[in-house]
This record gives sequence, structure tokens and C-alpha cells, in this order.
Amino acid sequence: MQQKVLILDFGSQFTQLIARRVRELNIYCEIHPYNSEKFSVDDYKAVILSGSPHSVRSEEAPQPDLSKIKGLKPLLGVCYGAQYLAHFYGGEVGASKTREYGRANLSFVDHSNELFEGIEKDSQVWMSHSDTILHLPDTYKRIASTHDVENAAYKIEGEDTYAIQFHPEVYHSTDGLTLLENFLVKIADVAQTWTPDSFVDSTVDAIKAKVGNDKVVLGLSGGVDSTVAAVLLDKAIGKNLHCIFVNNGLLRKNEFQNVLNQYEGMGLNVKGVDASARFLEALKGESDPEKKRKIIGRCFIEVFDEESHLLTDVKWLAQGTIYPDVIESVSATGGPSATIKSHHNVGGLPDFMKLKIVEPLRMIFKDEVRRVGKSLGIDPELLGRHPFPGPGMGIRILGDITAEKVRILQEVDAVFIDGLKAWGLYDGVWQAGAMLLPVNSVGVMGDERTYEKVVALRAVESTDGMTADWVDLPYKFLQETSNKIINNVKGVNRVVYDISSKPPATIEWE
Ligand code: XMP
Repeated sequence: MQQKVLILDFGSQFTQLIARRVRELNIYCEIHPYNSEKFSVDDYKAVILSGSPHSVRSEEAPQPDLSKIKGLKPLLGVCYGAQYLAHFYGGEVGASKTREYGRANLSFVDHSNELFEGIEKDSQVWMSHSDTILHLPDTYKRIASTHDVENAAYKIEGEDTYAIQFHPEVYHSTDGLTLLENFLVKIADVAQTWTPDSFVDSTVDAIKAKVGNDKVVLGLSGGVDSTVAAVLLDKAIGKNLHCIFVNNGLLRKNEFQNVLNQYEGMGLNVKGVDASARFLEALKGESDPEKKRKIIGRCFIEVFDEESHLLTDVKWLAQGTIYPDVIESVSATGGPSATIKSHHNVGGLPDFMKLKIVEPLRMIFKDEVRRVGKSLGIDPELLGRHPFPGPGMGIRILGDITAEKVRILQEVDAVFIDGLKAWGLYDGVWQAGAMLLPVNSVGVMGDERTYEKVVALRAVESTDGMTADWVDLPYKFLQETSNKIINNVKGVNRVVYDISSKPPATIEWE
């Protein structure tokens, strides 16, 4: 049985980061809102209490009953978690005199304590709190301080209960990972057995047990998630997996054929359906971004539904949903909320298909999907592909869409992306693409005056697409790319580079 760690979420912006760090230690963990009833503490080997935007002294503060955890399971309180454990068991928490946000150094460390094994006295830690623990309850023992925070870490005598005011999950806490490892491995004795290989083995077994000899249908998009999900399912059920790869006519240049060939080469049971004409017909004359998204989503469902009805006895629909899309976190109002990004599930599940759902990646993060993909032997080039929106060029052609505009943008995009690869810049960029603007501009070519399209190039750095910054691409590269586009793509006479960050801009222009 896979041992697992529970992270009780009190609404901190860093909760997902705690989970990421724990997983880096090859330990499986799950995040649950502190007030959720969907889990049982008995299933976990150790518990971590997250930070929170609340003050323990406020009325709305999370105040979970820890009687089934504290003293019974190894427990680590982080930030709010530390203050909560002190405040509700007789200590005193009050407002800090100085604003404690940013770097600090440990000025005292009790090295006899296992939590600090291998961590030097002046190790840098990251603070982010406005309350501080003024007095610890009697049975609590201080085990670290910083210059401004006397009770930076403590242990409850006679229990495996520890707490720290700083954030070990943030990279600026230099020894944060060591501290988490000390707590989880040395103190809580959790086995470090969660690896991509073990994930593959257990997931393949779980899929076999779940779907048995039933047929499963899966929509491939050419992206990393659906591909890894497909290969896992293929490993589990082979030819009972039926993949459908729809060409919506809005993919990158030659992508449909290239990716289809790649899938076939991987031995997947895949059917390519070229529905370009149908999508373009349905989109004719529409220039509203949301309506375009809806049309593309609806056409996709129609095509997918028709294709799956050609298969007989399909009982399951597989999806490449990943953990950030399903994590329930504590919302600003204190209740659990699902952070589901609706626009990412283009189409979603058509109700009328009445299929049961199998989502082999629903408990793992994006970088873990890539590691699993690597362990499954998937081509690194495919695993390293930039994210590409479901509606594809449909939301990169501003305004209405025509076959000619798609052709122009595909050519421009190909020059840009091929250039990034040739210059060795592709892997350092999180996402890149081109936008076709709905304006013409005046230019001169030879002795002729031109009045042609403007394209914008966009390349961003990001970790999850929620925030992003434009990439400082070399001028020489931009110059070469612009020349290539204008000289080779008929219909374009001007290229601009987008230097907006998100927020306030977004990555896509529509
Ligand atoms: P924005 O433009 O919201 O994009 O900053 C964030 C990330 O989401 C992708 N994106 C979409 N993906 N359907 C998708 O599947 C959509 O409608 C959609 N809109 C944006 C975008 O490419 C970026 O990775």
C-alpha cells in the first residue's frame, strides 16, 4: 500500500507548493480543505497544516478539531498551522511588531532536535506573516528562532508534533526541503517510494481493476497530458483503448499528420478524423472570442460523439485531467472550492454520452506528468512541447476566421517556432505562438506600396499559465524571424513582439 501524507489546507497561496516539495521527496501526498468531509485521517501516515490568509484571532479563522490527529499522527504546523497549534492549546498569538515578510536567518537552532539535522544555525528561511507567537504553552519547547521571531519553531514534548513559523516549501528557505525530509522521513518514518515508475505500475493495475475488459474512448489533443494518459491506458488495456484525434483545422502547420504519425509509431490504437471543413464552416463570420470558443467546443463534442458511436460497447471516457484542475482548496470565504478551469476543458463531457470517467493523471502535477511520460518511454520532444490552447489558432486569429487567415498564421507560427528550436531557445520558453491581428498596415516592397496583415509574436515564461512574463528574446533572433516572416509569408508586411506580462494582460490575445 502506498503510504501517504495529508496536507490540511487553510487557504494559503503556498499550499500547492508544499505538496510539490513533498512529492519531490518521492512521497505521495494529498491536499484537502480543513473542513472537507471527503477524507479520513486514518489513511495517512503524517499530517501537515498549511498557512492561511487568516489570523487565528479572527472570528472567521479556520478552527478544525485536531483531536484525531494531534498526538496520534506525526504533525507539522506551518505558519498559520504553527500559530493555531499554539493559540488553541493555551499559548498567545498577537500582531507582530515588525512586518515579517521575506528572508530571515535562523539565529538559534536546537541541533539535538531531529527536525534540524543537517541545517546550519544561520540558514535562510522565508517568512510571510503578520501575527507572531508571543508565548508558547508550557509543554511546548522552542527549537529555533530568528532575529525578529523568537518562536520560529517548536516541538510539543511527548508527541511527534512540530511547528515552524517560516515556509519550508518556498525556494528561498534554503534548507526547506531538508527540513521537510527530516520531518517526513526521520520523524514520521514515511517511505520514499513514490516514483514515476511506481506510479506507472500502480496506475496500470488500478486501470485494469477499474475498467476490466470494457472499451474506453479517449480524445487525443497532441498535448502532453492526453498523450501520457493514453500511453498509460494502452499499457493497461491495449486494444480496448480507442483514441480519437480530431483535426479542427486550427492546429499548427502539419501538426495533424505529424502527431498522428507519431501516435501510430507509438502503437496507439488511434483514429485521425479530419473535420477542418466542418469547424471552419461553423465558425464562418463569427468574431466574438467567447462565441468562437463555444462553437469550437460544440463541434468537437459533435465529432467526438459521432466517432464514439461508431464504436460499439464503449463504457468509459478517459480524460487527461491533472491535479491542479481538481484540487479543492479553501476559498477566500473559508469554504472549500474546486479550482476548475472551465475553459481548459474544451467541450467537457457531453452528458448524452453517458460514459463513466477514467482519469489516470488526476492526482499528479504537470511536471510529474512529464516524468511519468519519460518513464513510459515517450519521445522527449513530445513531452517538452509547449502548451497549446484547445481552440488553437481559433483564438489567435483575432476577429473572424477564414481558411486563408489560418494558412497565414500557420506559416508565421511555423517560422517562429522552428526559429526558437534552431536557436536553442524553445525549451527555455514556457509557451510561444503568433497572433494574426485584424488590421492591415501600409508597407513598401520593392517599388510597390503594400497594405497587408500585422502579426504579433508572443513568448512567455510561466510555471502554470496563471501568471506569466514576456521572454527577453535576443534582438538578433527577433530580427531574423521578422525578416523570414515578411519575406516568406505572403500577406504579412509587419511583425511586432508582445512585451506584456500577465497580469494585467493574458497569454492569449482573445
Ligand atoms: P490566458 O490567455 O488565459 O491563457 O492567459 C492561460 C493558458 O491557458 C491557455 N488557454 C486555453 N486553453 N482553451 C484551452 O484549452 C482555451 O479556451 C484557452 N484559453 C487560453 C493558454 O494557451 C495558456 O496556456
